[in-house]
Amino acid sequence: MRMYDIIEKKRDGKELSKEEIYFFVNGYTSGDIPDYQVSALMMAIYFQDMTEKERAILTEAMVESGDKIDLSRISGIKVDKHSTGGVGDTTTLVLAPLVASVGAPVAKMSGRGLGHTGGTIDKLESVPGFHTEITNEEFIDLVNKNKVSVIGQTGNLTPADKKLYSLRDVTATVNSIPLIASSIMSKKIASGADAIVLDVKTGAGAFMKEIDDAKELAHAMVSIGKQVGRNTMAVISDMSQPLGYAIGNSLEVKEAIDTLQGKGPEDLTELCLVLGSQMVVLAEKATSIEEARKMLEENLSNGKALEHFKIFLASQGGDSTVVDNPNQLPQAKHQIEVLAKRPGTVKTIVADQIGTAAMLLGAGRATKESVIDLAAGLMLNKKVGDAVSEGESLVTLHSNVEDVRSVIELIEKSIVISDEKVEAPKLIYGTITE
Ligand code: URA
Ligand code: CA
Repeated sequence: MRMYDIIEKKRDGKELSKEEIYFFVNGYTSGDIPDYQVSALMMAIYFQDMTEKERAILTEAMVESGDKIDLSRISGIKVDKHSTGGVGDTTTLVLAPLVASVGAPVAKMSGRGLGHTGGTIDKLESVPGFHTEITNEEFIDLVNKNKVSVIGQTGNLTPADKKLYSLRDVTATVNSIPLIASSIMSKKIASGADAIVLDVKTGAGAFMKEIDDAKELAHAMVSIGKQVGRNTMAVISDMSQPLGYAIGNSLEVKEAIDTLQGKGPEDLTELCLVLGSQMVVLAEKATSIEEARKMLEENLSNGKALEHFKIFLASQGGDSTVVDNPNQLPQAKHQIEVLAKRPGTVKTIVADQIGTAAMLLGAGRATKESVIDLAAGLMLNKKVGDAVSEGESLVTLHSNVEDVRSVIELIEKSIVISDEKVEAPKLIYGTITE
């Protein structure tokens, strides 16, 4: 088999065979096939697309390129949730203990990464003592005991995806539905999920800005999941404005605590109930979405979800008293208000720009070397559709640096106040099960 022939076949719009897909994935991972040939193939796929069958085979080939996490020692159906990424998305912190509190096992492998805030692990590390450096054995034992644990990435998972993603990043081939879908799904499958709930975001703060693109990506991932024997479904949710009010690591932990007490932001609470219900049904702990939702709502109001969060934190070294005293979380030295310059109704809060503002305050990493300030970030005081008067606070900055003029300028540009009547945006655009 020759790489040249594979590139030519895809260039001409033909379907690649299983042998051809495994040939280039394995050859690229081992270093036998050079970047320039794989770049050409990625560009051919970008223009010619892949059939559903090719996408599933590509996903499996990437899974097979490295280690796979074996969660079979955990009893029950392990449902994983994946978000395509947004701004101030606090859902994992809420969902993990909430779903566990109704008996569905949550075995979460998570990361740090670049972005507006840290990843789930950074956020959890705002809780003094909490750590995710545990062995796979401990991880599995904790899930069996408490139904929830979070571990940092271990092992050499999907090395083919790592190489391909870096190559796509510099060859203008990231934005391809078959390549994105197989990349995301390969990581979820290699980390051992039996079933997968996808939160595909759409809007200014999302990877997929347009709703039709988000739907297409969701369909592509659900199709791959089903073909490889993992029950998969997707929710399309809004990310035109940030989710909830908090953007920042310890600020989001506080927001998660509020939400687990049933007094969190409306949008964050609703999204957690929607995603959580799907997870509980896929885990076969309820037979309908309605039943699952009722169980979750009950545990938000009776304290069981919050109790589960305490158990989870303590089981990984965390000081669970922060749940009752969130002011023990890291606090920034300065709180600075960003005031409305005119009265009206909030028309837009451009999610990605607000996210960048949080990152500039130190909440996220711009490069791999950046050090996160766990206390830094911002709290929205208004959301789209809210009325504001002149001089009222739109945003509270939490900062350890004194000079925040450029951050304030960015926020002023990204929050638009108008005289029109504005409706709050729709939160859920649909669910996709096939
Ligand atoms: N996120 C991924 O993990 N992979 C992609 O290809 C794009 C976004
Ligand atoms: Ca939030």
